[in-house]
Amino acid sequence: MAKTLTQSLKPFLAMKLQEKALEMEQSGQRVIKLSIGQPDFTTPDCIIDAAQKAMRDGKTGYTHSLGIWELREGLAEYYATEYGLSLAPERIVITSGSSFGLLMLFEAILDEGDEVIIGNPAYACYENFVRCAGGAARAVPAREEEGFQLDPEKVRAALTPGTRGVIVNSPSNPGGTVMPPENLRALAGLCAEGTADSGPLLISDEIYHGLSYEGQVSSALEFSDNCIVADGFSKRYAMTGWRLGWLVLPEALVPPLNLLLQNFSICAPSVSQWAGLAALKDAGPDTRRMAAEYGRRRLILMDALREAGFGVKSSPSGAFYILADARAFCDDSLLFSYELLEQAKVSVAPGIDFGSGAEGYLRFSYANSVENIQEGMQRIKKYLENR
Ligand SMILES: Cc1ncc(COP(=O)(O)O)c(C=O)c1O
Repeated sequence: MAKTLTQSLKPFLAMKLQEKALEMEQSGQRVIKLSIGQPDFTTPDCIIDAAQKAMRDGKTGYTHSLGIWELREGLAEYYATEYGLSLAPERIVITSGSSFGLLMLFEAILDEGDEVIIGNPAYACYENFVRCAGGAARAVPAREEEGFQLDPEKVRAALTPGTRGVIVNSPSNPGGTVMPPENLRALAGLCAEGTADSGPLLISDEIYHGLSYEGQVSSALEFSDNCIVADGFSKRYAMTGWRLGWLVLPEALVPPLNLLLQNFSICAPSVSQWAGLAALKDAGPDTRRMAAEYGRRRLILMDALREAGFGVKSSPSGAFYILADARAFCDDSLLFSYELLEQAKVSVAPGIDFGSGAEGYLRFSYANSVENIQEGMQRIKKYLENR
């Protein structure tokens, strides 16, 4: 029944594990969920208040397909304050989450068979977005010694005339690592010739900006005005369910995106857009509070993983993930994840979800309370000691 496209897409295994954990909970078992990339905080009050006001003020209809002007302007100000960048609001396009933004972007830039360079490992959905738009993902190893990030020299060697994009993600999922600014600069330089019509474009997924624990993270826009940034409100503002993201585009790509958004989503949710504006204006203290708490949990989880016998070599200094080496216990990360779920009642994401380069690794999320992290790691340690 299903079309060839859906048959060719890879399942999102972290979500499958999460769904199984939920089923186990429904049958009365208590599962500690360290598998999912979702803040355990609820959306800050100032954002919820703004959403309620927007609803009461009747801001409940479709908006401009590119987003409300106030939010586009607010984001331009955000880039000025956070990165010292001067961006025209016209280049900022609001989308229903960064996921949908990325999908529409690839629809806009890829012709059948065009290649997009993706790290191995990388966020599991990139490959599917590219495939859905008719392109082909080209995996370039991003090993633990390289901080699970793309190395500019390896990217240079992998470029072909058919390369249309290079995706970077810093802080990253699954590695939780930050790309050194000199590498981001070098990649921006490699892609600098890319245009709306041809050549590789640097696509920087900056969804985990604001969640870094060892200093400020650079935006790719600091190194090239011609790159594309995908970002959103989900992670740093704890707004995953509001489905709100944005793209920063070279001017020439705004009309094609406009056309796609008009047709495929009409607009991003209107109430979420007004809420997003309040997030930019008022939720700075909340994001700092949440980031400080993630930072504390990161150290606790890192210690507990090492104590339980997992390897944590790279420095997970951003997002809320640690990609831990589990090869002392397994060589099949999917089987091992199911084993930990069923036996220790802890859900984690299997490394293989993110590419063959993370096989033998498990991704632990610290978007969970200190109590749950400690209990989850106790359960795993005890289970492995008696295994
Ligand atoms: C690296 C990365 N990019 C994009 C997304 C999608 O975020 P959203 O669609 O909620 O903006 C995620 C979600 O986990 C992610 O980890």
